[in-house]
Amino acid sequence: MATRGVMAQLALILAVAAALSSSVVPACLAVTSPYVRPPPRATLSLHHRRLDDDDDDQTPQQVHISMVGPDKMRVTWITDDDAPAIVEYGTTSGQYPLSATGNTTTYSYVLYKSGNIHDAVIGPLQPSTTYYYRCSSSSAREFSFRTPPATLPFKFIIVGDLGQTGWTDSTLKHVAASDYDMLLLPGDLSYADFIQPRWDTYGRLVEPLASTRPWMVTQGNHEIEKLPVVEPTPFVAYNARWRMPYDAGATPSSDNLYYSFDVAGGAVHVIMLGSYTDFAAGSPQHEWLRRDLAAVAGRSTPPAFVVALVHAPWYNSNEAHQGEGDAMRAAMEELLYGARVDAVFAGHVHAYERFQRVYAGEVDPCAPVYVTIGDGGNREGLAGKFVEPQPAISAFREASFGHGRLEVVNATHALWAWHRNDDDEPVVADQVWITSLRANPACHGGNRK
Ligand SMILES: *[C@@H]1O[C@H](CO)[C@@H](O)[C@H](O)[C@H]1NC(C)=O
Ligand SMILES: *[C@@H]1O[C@H](CO)[C@@H](O)[C@H](O)[C@H]1NC(C)=O
Repeated sequence: MATRGVMAQLALILAVAAALSSSVVPACLAVTSPYVRPPPRATLSLHHRRLDDDDDDQTPQQVHISMVGPDKMRVTWITDDDAPAIVEYGTTSGQYPLSATGNTTTYSYVLYKSGNIHDAVIGPLQPSTTYYYRCSSSSAREFSFRTPPATLPFKFIIVGDLGQTGWTDSTLKHVAASDYDMLLLPGDLSYADFIQPRWDTYGRLVEPLASTRPWMVTQGNHEIEKLPVVEPTPFVAYNARWRMPYDAGATPSSDNLYYSFDVAGGAVHVIMLGSYTDFAAGSPQHEWLRRDLAAVAGRSTPPAFVVALVHAPWYNSNEAHQGEGDAMRAAMEELLYGARVDAVFAGHVHAYERFQRVYAGEVDPCAPVYVTIGDGGNREGLAGKFVEPQPAISAFREASFGHGRLEVVNATHALWAWHRNDDDEPVVADQVWITSLRANPACHGGNRK
């Protein structure tokens, strides 16, 4: 597309977005924390089309992978022009004896037309194994990933509200420097905010990580991108670009906006909920969650750990976004509590906060640990104002950018650590052992109430 066309389109979208921004985009928050925190960093300047001059219109770009069932991987990538939706792969660099063909889709948004978005599911794959692969038979770019282990220990990275700023870059560098098996993202990926080419720059920014380890994501408010009259359907770009395994796994859902999956041979069950999809009792999401939790509890060997991700936190002592997760909590908290979910991770608030085990607003030894980890590095900056005094249920809170690591060590112990981006160094600023509620006999026997 000609540059002038792109500019005209950007101008139009910006105008529409600006007109609507007061109602759909959260306002910037002033940082008044007593800590001296660095300011937000500027949005990175990235090419939204070709990576370099050697690339052509069939060169795969924005490659990312996600787990499908215990031993398959979905590869998703984009080409500017028509190209086959084929992934060729093998365990030796440069040799691709295996292949799978998938599907190609595109989407339009106002005047923007996406590239060709391809995805193909490959496998069965061996656990803890490095596979080399190429997309659309392009010999220009070889990628590789390591499959997650089939048993514990299992290492997750958890980080929300990433965006694409200098701080995002810092967070991603720290993540890249650590050894992990899978990344979980509790919503707010690109902060494209209606400007669709920003989804492409985001795809480029995260590709080095997202093409090498599975990235499992769920929706945030920045994924909605609904525009009255012009774009009445929510999640158009998100659903087209970040297809998750909602139709696979133990309890298939009918919607890309919520799903669950197992890792480590079923030792850990991960539930990805949708904060901006109907969650009320009787809604498809609520019914699905009920089925999923019942199915998990009914297994001959139930998972040692069950964790859930949402976007808007159910517990939050930051002044930002107070109460925004309350309706969802009212609808679903009892379900998670009754199923002895071990931890709930949220984004949305641009700060870090860890709660005690909490149910119905009170400390309860059989309830989930709640963590807000919406501090990936987006352009809106940090949420520096906390409600004073700190409520007793809040264990640790700090407004800094960073990321979290959850290492499920064995069937009883998981280590949670929050790494602050401290002058570009990752510093462990909060760390706690989370023990399995299933392994705690005092928590057996349904709701305590
Ligand atoms: C391609 O898309 C169709 C329709 O959504 C689906 O039924 C089919 O399974 C897809 N094929 C692959 C290989 O993903
Ligand atoms: C599980 O890991 C914890 C923490 O390292 C350790 O204290 C405990 O002994 C381990 N349990 C088993 C059964 O190995």
